[in-house]
Amino acid sequence: MNEKLVQAFNAQINAELYSEYLYLAMKAVFEEQHLTGFANWFNVQVQEEHAHALGLYDYVHERGGKVTLDAIAKPEFKEGSIVEIFEQVLKHEELVTSKINALADEADNAKDRAAVSFLDWYVKEQVEEEASVRQIISNLKLIGDDKKALLMLDRELATRTFVQPVIG
Ligand code: FEO
Repeated sequence: MNEKLVQAFNAQINAELYSEYLYLAMKAVFEEQHLTGFANWFNVQVQEEHAHALGLYDYVHERGGKVTLDAIAKPEFKEGSIVEIFEQVLKHEELVTSKINALADEADNAKDRAAVSFLDWYVKEQVEEEASVRQIISNLKLIGDDKKALLMLDRELATRTFVQPVIG
């Protein structure tokens, strides 16, 4: 891969590790409230982001590039209602989608067909990531102040499990 593209991959590794760190910070909010299902959802999210970062890391090596790790920024979000936290998750995923699209554009500009094809997995993954968060936000809006319904959603989110993705 050309040097510019390797740098762009390294920046995306950092963005995925930041996502992992952000979701770990959000998970703590739910742990504190004993909403263990929501905490589990974030825990799976943490593992997914880790897998996304490692997928890019392995690919840079596979292509003979140099992985350069930068500092991971402090997670920034506002602690608010549950729906407000999920709205921030959605906003963050939309930002990640724009970064993945920019990385794919970079691979396109470099006419690196292999990298474009590899990144297709990430492009599709972002569609799923955004859709699952939108679904939770709409459920939360329907639930409103209904505590029983909130506990039911918490139980449902407790069943989410991490499945190691096959990337690329
Ligand atoms: Fe790795 Fe949630 O995007």
